[in-house]
Amino acid sequence: MATMASEWEAATADEAQALPLTDNLLPAQAATADDDLLTAHKDLYMDKMKGYTDIHNFGLSHLKSSAIRCAVELGIPSVINHRGGAATISDIFTDTGIHTSKLPQLRRLLRVLAVCGILDDSPPVGDSTAFCYTLTPVSRLLVHDGEFDISPLLLLMTRPDTTVSTFFRLESWFKDPAANTPFEMAHGMSPWSLTKVDASYNDAMNDACVADSNLIMHIVLKEAPAIFRGLTSLIDVAGGHGIAAVAIAKEFPQITCTVLDLQQVIEKAPRCATVNYIVGDMFKFIPPADAVLLKAVLNSWEDDSCVKILTHCKRAIPAGGKLIIINTVIGLGISSNRKAVKEAQVLLDMYFMRGAGFEREEHEWRRVFLKAGFSGYKITPILDPVSIIEVFP
Ligand SMILES: C[S@@+](CC[C@H](N)C(=O)[O-])C[C@H]1O[C@@H](n2cnc3c(N)ncnc32)[C@H](O)[C@@H]1O
Repeated sequence: MATMASEWEAATADEAQALPLTDNLLPAQAATADDDLLTAHKDLYMDKMKGYTDIHNFGLSHLKSSAIRCAVELGIPSVINHRGGAATISDIFTDTGIHTSKLPQLRRLLRVLAVCGILDDSPPVGDSTAFCYTLTPVSRLLVHDGEFDISPLLLLMTRPDTTVSTFFRLESWFKDPAANTPFEMAHGMSPWSLTKVDASYNDAMNDACVADSNLIMHIVLKEAPAIFRGLTSLIDVAGGHGIAAVAIAKEFPQITCTVLDLQQVIEKAPRCATVNYIVGDMFKFIPPADAVLLKAVLNSWEDDSCVKILTHCKRAIPAGGKLIIINTVIGLGISSNRKAVKEAQVLLDMYFMRGAGFEREEHEWRRVFLKAGFSGYKITPILDPVSIIEVFP
C-alpha cells in the first residue's frame, strides 16, 4: 500500500511541476492591444473575473465544511500529530485506513485542506517525492485527545441532519408567515425539545458545549480571573455538563458552584465532587448565588425570552453580586477589525437564527439588560469572537 502511495505521489509531484502558474495569462494574451483600451478592458475583465471566482468560492464553500468535517472524521489532524507533527500522504493513507481505491481523492482532499489553511503542505524536497503535511492553528484544535479538542463543536456546526438541513430552505422560511423558526420548520420542534427526544443530537450538543467550554474557560480563568474574586457562590445556568463550573471550582475552591440545566442534560453529566448539579428551568426559577454565569446561553433566545431569563437572574443575585455572561459581542474582539473575526461573528448570528436567537451588538445587549432592570455592565473581550460581560444589579 505504501508503494502505491509513493508512486502516486511521484505522479502528482510531476504533475504539479508540469502545471504552470496562471497569474500572468492575461497580460501575455493582450500584449498587442491599445494601452487605454487594454486598461479599460482589463478592469472590466478583472472585475468579472473576481466576481466569477468569488461566486465559485461562495457557491462551493459548503465543500470547505465537508472537507474539514471529513478530515476530523478520518482523524487526519490526529494522524499528523501522532506522527510527530508532520505526515506524508502515505502516512495519512496508512493511519486513517482509507480504502486503496480512494488514494487519488485523498490527495485532492489534502490539497483543499492545505489551500484553505486547515493544514500546511510543503512540496517535496531533494530526492523525496512526497508532500509533507503539518498542522496549522485550525487543525491543532482538531486533534483528538489534544490539549483542546474543538472537533465536537466543528462536528455540531457541520452536522448534516440537524445543522446543515436547518438552512436548506431558508428562502422558504423567509416567505412563510406561519413558519416559526427555521429549526422548527425543518425538524418540527425547537433544538431543546429535540435534545429531549433525539439522543444522538443531545450527545452532539453536549459534546460540543464541553469542547467549547474547555477552551473558553481555560482562557477566561487565565486572562480574567479577577471577575471571580470575592465570590462565595456561583450558579452556572444552562451550564450543560458543568465544564465551566468545574473549572471555576478548581481555581477558586472557596466558591460553591452549582450547575443548572434540563433533565436530559444533567442526567448525562459526569459528576464532579466539587460541583452541585440540579435539574431546573431557567424560565421558572434560578436559585440564589453571588454570581450567575450564562455562557453561550442568551444567543439562543430572542429579546423577550432573554429578558425573562435575566429577570430571574436578577432575583437570584444579591446587592453586590453580578451576572457573568460569556458570549459574542458583534464588533468586539481582541482583533475586532479582522475580516475573519467579523465573518465568524455574523455567521454565528445567522446560525442562531435557526431558533429565534441571535448574536448581539453592544447596544442590543444594553437594551435587554435595561429591560430586565440591571443598572450597569462592563465588557471585556477575551478571545476573538467571544467577550465577558459583567452585569450589575
Ligand atoms: C449552547 S448550550 C450551553 C451550555 C453551557 N453553558 C456551555 O457553554 O457549555 C445551551 C444550554 O441551555 C440549556 N437550556 C435550554 N433551555 C433551558 C431551560 N429552559 N432551562 C435550563 N437550561 C436550558 C440546554 O440544555 C443547553 O445545555
